[in-house]
Amino acid sequence: MALTAYETKPVYPPELEAAASPTAAAAEYIYSEALDDKYKDNSARPYLPKSFRDNDMTLRFKKLHPSFMAEVSRVDLRTVHDEPTLQALRTAMTDFGVLVFHDQHFSYDEQIEFAQRMDGTLHSKTSSSVLSKNRFGNEALTDISNVGQDGNILEAADRRRMNGISNRIWHTDASFEEPAGRYSMLYARNIPPVRADTEFADMRAAYDALGADTKAIIEDLHAYHSIVYSRHTMGFDFSPEESAKLPGATHPLVRKFADSNRKSLYLASHAAHITEWPVPEGRLLLKDLIEHATRREFLYSHEWSLGDLVIWDNRTTMHRARPFDDKAYKRELTRVTTLDLPLAMSQP
Ligand SMILES: [Fe+2]
Repeated sequence: MALTAYETKPVYPPELEAAASPTAAAAEYIYSEALDDKYKDNSARPYLPKSFRDNDMTLRFKKLHPSFMAEVSRVDLRTVHDEPTLQALRTAMTDFGVLVFHDQHFSYDEQIEFAQRMDGTLHSKTSSSVLSKNRFGNEALTDISNVGQDGNILEAADRRRMNGISNRIWHTDASFEEPAGRYSMLYARNIPPVRADTEFADMRAAYDALGADTKAIIEDLHAYHSIVYSRHTMGFDFSPEESAKLPGATHPLVRKFADSNRKSLYLASHAAHITEWPVPEGRLLLKDLIEHATRREFLYSHEWSLGDLVIWDNRTTMHRARPFDDKAYKRELTRVTTLDLPLAMSQP
């Protein structure tokens, strides 16, 4: 049975481009189509301008989708310590929601330290942390792999595999926590010789595309998020002791952001019910909204290369892992997720 379903790119409606973050158009450092045309014959990465080849470390961003996603020009994130560059990356996250960096060389500690420099406090109460001891010795470094403590591929019925492959449904990392997850930073350390993409959905564009009536209905609602619930829908159940460590959390269904002056749907598979409504009615609303938000024009699928680091904003995107033959090939990535807390430097 063929498991892969990589569809051809959809034709994007022009209004999607118009819905992109207004700050993106205003930012000086943002990659432009004109730059691409001028230097398109320069290198294997045709979007990189000549100035990059001359060791100008100015960050450049190539849009990968009309409304979100950007690929960042070459930069070794281990060396990024200065606040202006870190702030430029945060602004780009506001603009694009997902950033793709190539050719990174993180040790475990370096990946954790970069995440802390960029976005502060780390999430460590993950679903995998209640199942088994972290093989890296740090619960903030989540093991996104199909490999066990012994380095071998997990058996088909292994509970860690069952939990892991459940990430193939649309979700947002750590939405079942309070505070919830903000950025996730996923780094490819070992990739299979077949595609094993991560797919993203733009929840700000999805919100913008809702009708006025629906926006009015959902404006002040809240959803209860539980990974115990979402795993149960997949046929995977935590024990009572494990479930007690994952109590869930309630968040607004529509999130509003002062930095971009935009709104986003905040739901996905951990969203169990609408707290203001009867459970079946709220669950139907959530299913309808997820169906809307995963229309092809809101999606982008990232094909991994070794050394890629992808950072996404869990507040403005959903994501899911795409299937591959995980009983034949190893796939090892490490993820650090930050919590949606004010950054220390922005506090009085
Ligand atoms: Fe995830």
